[in-house]
Amino acid sequence: MVGLFFLLREDVHAPAALDTYQATPEKGRYLALVGNCTSCHTREGGKPYAGGVEFQTPFGILYSTNITMDRETGIGGWSFEDFFDAMKHGVRPDGTHLYPAFPYTDFARLTDEDIASLFLFVQTIAPEAVPARPNELAFPYSVRPLLVVWKVLFHDLDSYSPDMTRSDSWNRGAYLVEGLGHCGACHTPRNFLGAEKEDLALTGGVYLDKVKTGKFREWSGVNLTPAPTGLAKWNEDDIVAYLKNGQSRHAVVNGPMNDVVMNSTRFLTDADAAAMAAYLKGIPANEQRGSGAPDPETLRAGEIGYTVHCGSCHLPTGLGDDILGVSLAGSAIVQAENPASLLNVILYGPHLPAPPFVVDRTQMKMFGKKLSDQDIASIASYVRSSFGNRGGAVSPEQVGRQR
Ligand code: HEC
Ligand code: HEC
Ligand code: HEC
Repeated sequence: MVGLFFLLREDVHAPAALDTYQATPEKGRYLALVGNCTSCHTREGGKPYAGGVEFQTPFGILYSTNITMDRETGIGGWSFEDFFDAMKHGVRPDGTHLYPAFPYTDFARLTDEDIASLFLFVQTIAPEAVPARPNELAFPYSVRPLLVVWKVLFHDLDSYSPDMTRSDSWNRGAYLVEGLGHCGACHTPRNFLGAEKEDLALTGGVYLDKVKTGKFREWSGVNLTPAPTGLAKWNEDDIVAYLKNGQSRHAVVNGPMNDVVMNSTRFLTDADAAAMAAYLKGIPANEQRGSGAPDPETLRAGEIGYTVHCGSCHLPTGLGDDILGVSLAGSAIVQAENPASLLNVILYGPHLPAPPFVVDRTQMKMFGKKLSDQDIASIASYVRSSFGNRGGAVSPEQVGRQR
């Protein structure tokens, strides 16, 4: 099974024998929650972990695979070393390279011991015979051996190494956010080959996911650094509240972050949630360069549109209140470099988790049928450049693409 990859890389290492680790299936169960294996490996209405979840990427469509204990269609026959190679190196036992839609570029940060616990946990998953769905990727992305080159360029194999100048909690947060939690998968922009841009880590990413109508559209995972267009206004308790309950003083989950909270972050221990928050507030503020400011005419139209359609809940100041609507001032969604998530909320209304997760208040409706692309573009432009916000102008074409 030693492929070209292993010949090219000197940093590849094999794990020690499984029984030398202090690993347990219970630890693995918790780690699987933090890593959100469920969201990506359990299809709606499908058997747990049997795969078949669709991922639309700029390179075509990819489906997740069956990671149940079925020997034929799942990973039932895999040894610990096989599993380790998949999680760390992105390689199957037969030497096939896996696509980085499976976030092994982040999972590689895991300690060998945590991978051992995850292995013990996956051993407890009931076998389900569900064959993989064939991918629909464009050439040359369909050629898996080419991933060797990609990995040489972009796949760092080193486990997380703690920063001794920081607290234990900060380091734990870094380990979880950069590693198992794979927050960068959606919150970090990617280059033209789909690799995360390290110098812009966590400043906001764009990817395709379903909107309410079931179609795949762009979403922006927002800036999570403490920049004014990111989480500047949030304190650590706000971040903990959002990760555990889906809402904070500043925002309510309303899109794909919903699944992340419901399937993963709400299960974080208090200490781990606090560690993630400490890390996010402790990294340097950073942001992408936004588009230009809207012209005065657009702003005027936007202000009227906002007053008529939004101001009654989000208030003329944009500050909202606890009952009517969240604050749009300093909001990371509103100011994201790519306005996709903001436009999706306006077009389709917020997609909220079931009670008791989000307080019962006046719900925001969808505006997609009521307002034209032009109307929404001017409202979005206005909201992005008022109340102290610094997002740029939005064009009607951008709105049209989100429909
Ligand atoms: C963001 C989505 C995503 C998350 C999160 C995710 N996976 Fe996957 N995983 C995938 C996709 C997609 C594939 C298929 C990749 C391919 O076909 O090259 C895959 C493949 C795998 C494989 C290889 C199986 C095979 O032969 O195809 C294993 C093992 C695996 N995942 C385990 C896990 C575990 C354990 C977790 C949780 C810690 C996890 N995955 C979380 C998307 C994900
Ligand atoms: C599947 C993609 C995805 C992953 C993985 C993901 N996020 Fe998000 N996140 C989003 C999107 C999209 C939003 C915008 C709001 C929404 O979808 O509800 C968001 C919003 C947020 C917000 C709220 C920002 C605001 O102003 O509303 C925080 C905080 C956050 N994410 C933290 C995290 C952390 C921490 C992780 C890793 C544990 C993470 N996210 C992983 C997609 C993702
Ligand atoms: C009936 C009251 C109401 C109206 C009208 C309304 N909203 Fe909202 N909006 C809310 C509430 C409440 C939320 C929080 C999610 C929820 O609980 O439904 C929200 C969420 C949002 C969010 C997501 C913010 C975040 O960080 O979570 C944005 C952006 C937004 N609204 C923009 C607008 C815009 C722009 C308009 C006008 C086109 C508008 N809203 C009209 C009540 C309203």
